[in-house]
Amino acid sequence: MNRRETLAGMALSASLVATAQAADATKRVDIKGAVALVTGSNRGIGRGFVDVLLARGAKRVYATARNPKYLAELAALDKRVVPLELDVTNDAHRRAAAEKAQDLTMLINNAAYPGSDKDGERRFLSATNLDDIKRSMDTNCWSPAELARLFIPIILKNGSPGKVGAVLNILSGGALFCLPEFTSYSTSKAAEMMMTAGLRAETDRMPILIASVFTGGVQTRALPVGATTAATPVDHANEVFDAIAQGHSTIFPSTGPVNMRQRICEDPDGFERRIIDRFHTNPVKIAPYE
Ligand SMILES: NC(=O)c1ccc[n+]([C@@H]2O[C@H](COP(=O)([O-])OP(=O)(O)OC[C@H]3O[C@@H](n4cnc5c(N)ncnc54)[C@H](OP(=O)(O)O)[C@@H]3O)[C@@H](O)[C@H]2O)c1
Repeated sequence: MNRRETLAGMALSASLVATAQAADATKRVDIKGAVALVTGSNRGIGRGFVDVLLARGAKRVYATARNPKYLAELAALDKRVVPLELDVTNDAHRRAAAEKAQDLTMLINNAAYPGSDKDGERRFLSATNLDDIKRSMDTNCWSPAELARLFIPIILKNGSPGKVGAVLNILSGGALFCLPEFTSYSTSKAAEMMMTAGLRAETDRMPILIASVFTGGVQTRALPVGATTAATPVDHANEVFDAIAQGHSTIFPSTGPVNMRQRICEDPDGFERRIIDRFHTNPVKIAPYE
């Protein structure tokens, strides 16, 4: 996306975020008084969620990180923060978190693995084996699903028709089409998108909102090199919380893939051709993580 498209997208943002899909007035979710758990909350978008949960009056925030070295820093943020070690792929960690967070009303599945820093390992043909692709599936689809299975009964126990709980699954534009530079990531995010839709259908008549958040263009280490964006993790979290406050379950934050579904539907072959040509001529890259 060039700078002009980015700015045009931002100008339209307020209405587009809200109108991606009709809101369900019976599933409005209030942050004030919520008890939330955020995966991967030590940096980036996850940390933005923690900051905005606290600013908007959440009662308690389970701020989780897979690396315990971040827990003291998270605990120091506020008395309402309960820091927890949680590698989302670790079943013992997941179960311990569910034991601890019996008062939960909102799960934010944010943690994700973008794939190996070796380009070839992120593709089905050039990978030496499927281990790294399976790691993406495990981190980005199966682990959020396991967490949803553990926490949805707890969230329902703590809710009522007037007090709606929530699961927010942080997806990506890469769920809507195959980004060949990150095939493993796209595969896992597309699977997570369908998993989220399945959960939404199963819980349709229950007091819980299951949201698909099509994130993109947020200033974190995962942002593609050269991308232009104005969204901070805090901006992103505020947009997402504004949307769930109205009962939206399909959310396109303004710097993300707004209109991408329509563009793909209008010309699926042309869209894929442009993506493949870019892959061969000017592939998307993210900077190596330190
Ligand atoms: N930034 C964007 O523009 C953008 C675009 C599309 C989608 N997204 C989505 O937004 C979410 C957050 O991404 P981000 O941009 O904030 O990336 P980030 O800065 O790289 O943060 C990713 C977080 O996930 C954690 N994580 C990775 N594997 C984990 C595991 N097995 N268990 C627990 N935590 C784990 C990381 O922990 P460590 O610090 O220990 O590595 C880190 O806290 C992801 O779901 C991503 O796909 C972001």
